[in-house]
Amino acid sequence: MKNHYDTIVVGGGIIGHSVAYSLLKRGQSVLVIEKGEINLKASSAAAGMLAAQAEVTEAGPLFDLARKSRNMFPKLSEELMEVAGIDIELIQNGMLTIAYNKEREEQLKQTVRLQKTLGEEARWLAQEEVVRAEQNLSNQVLGAMYAPNDGQVSAYKLATGFAVASGVLGGRVLEFTEVIDFLIQQGKVQGVKTSQGEFYGEHVVVAGGAWSVNFLEQIGIDLGLYPVKGECLSVLTRDDLITSTIFSEDCYIVPKKDGRLYIGATVIPHSFDEKVTVEGVSRLLHAASELLPSLKNEEWERAWTGIRPQTNDGFPYLGEHPEISGLYVATGHYRNGILLSPITGEIIADIIEGNPLSESASAFSLKGSRRGQYEVTYKR
Ligand code: FAD
Ligand code: GLY
Repeated sequence: MKNHYDTIVVGGGIIGHSVAYSLLKRGQSVLVIEKGEINLKASSAAAGMLAAQAEVTEAGPLFDLARKSRNMFPKLSEELMEVAGIDIELIQNGMLTIAYNKEREEQLKQTVRLQKTLGEEARWLAQEEVVRAEQNLSNQVLGAMYAPNDGQVSAYKLATGFAVASGVLGGRVLEFTEVIDFLIQQGKVQGVKTSQGEFYGEHVVVAGGAWSVNFLEQIGIDLGLYPVKGECLSVLTRDDLITSTIFSEDCYIVPKKDGRLYIGATVIPHSFDEKVTVEGVSRLLHAASELLPSLKNEEWERAWTGIRPQTNDGFPYLGEHPEISGLYVATGHYRNGILLSPITGEIIADIIEGNPLSESASAFSLKGSRRGQYEVTYKR
């Protein structure tokens, strides 16, 4: 294997592969280095929702980023089928965010109004309209916000699609290899030191998900990242119990193409624990059965965990380190890394090529007024 590349990507999850794919399309040579097997961490734990409107409910750069990325999926789906032969199982059936009480109804109606003024389609559905659309939902539901353009994919197939397509374009992947340090000379990155030796590159992109925290801190870079554990489970169904993804404050239920329902997810900040707990599963099953009572008769399949990468201000980091030239960070996508994967690849490729960024994309740089008081430090 050669040891010099235009760009080295640290981390073989969906973000690392999306960055690699975008750079390869632009003619770069790229090596992705993964400490375990690729796509086995958060990226395969995800439910695959493209919940730009259901999850990001405030106006601002994150909402802009989320809807731009969501709108990239139809073309991406065709592209990954053509280049990699992988069907990412894109479903564009919309999402229902449920209200059980008046207070939540008011909040959601306000979100509908806001999203309409921002040019997105959103509707408030009264109880009878919800029940007409989804007959198996509980009659305790008061109403719902319907976002017809939110959708979902298979997270694992999307991550695999990016990885296989990257391979087709000449990208290389090195698994079971941990990046342990950067090689830096006179403020410019030269490559990385790994458990299998040194690799050289003009650019190094850190896309290590939640584990970027340990890795960056260990080498003196503190970005204010932290892990958030999430448990999720699946149920096998014989009939189509629901057609849209159902989102409530306590859980979400995602009907996958193969008849499975994915039910998620717990949110446990500051935890790298990858065990599934009885409490987590029982809370999710309880909340999901309240929403969809006939769930109780369906077949249990399995449960799993993933560790989400979160940032102190809730915005991902997409940019170059202010003091180390050629070193970039692409992480902190928290609950929306699947949704944000296509646009992340394009933004990082633009930054590496020196192309101008849109105003909303610039908001995710490592340093700047928008990042508040948090200081990016490098102490070595
Ligand atoms: P990961 O997939 O964790 O990949 C990072 C990789 O980097 C890992 O493989 C790790 O081993 C490797 N690595 C780290 N450090 C090093 C090192 N030093 N050397 C080499 N390799 C290294 N998002 C959505 O958009 N929609 C959803 O519906 C959704 N549902 C979710 C449900 C659950 C239960 C969870 C946990 C998350 C969900 N997410 C969802 C969030 C999404 O999964 C994450 O934001 C996304 O997967 C993060 O991708 P990543 O590539 O940054 O991280
Ligand atoms: N976006 C869903 C989750 O992170 O659980």
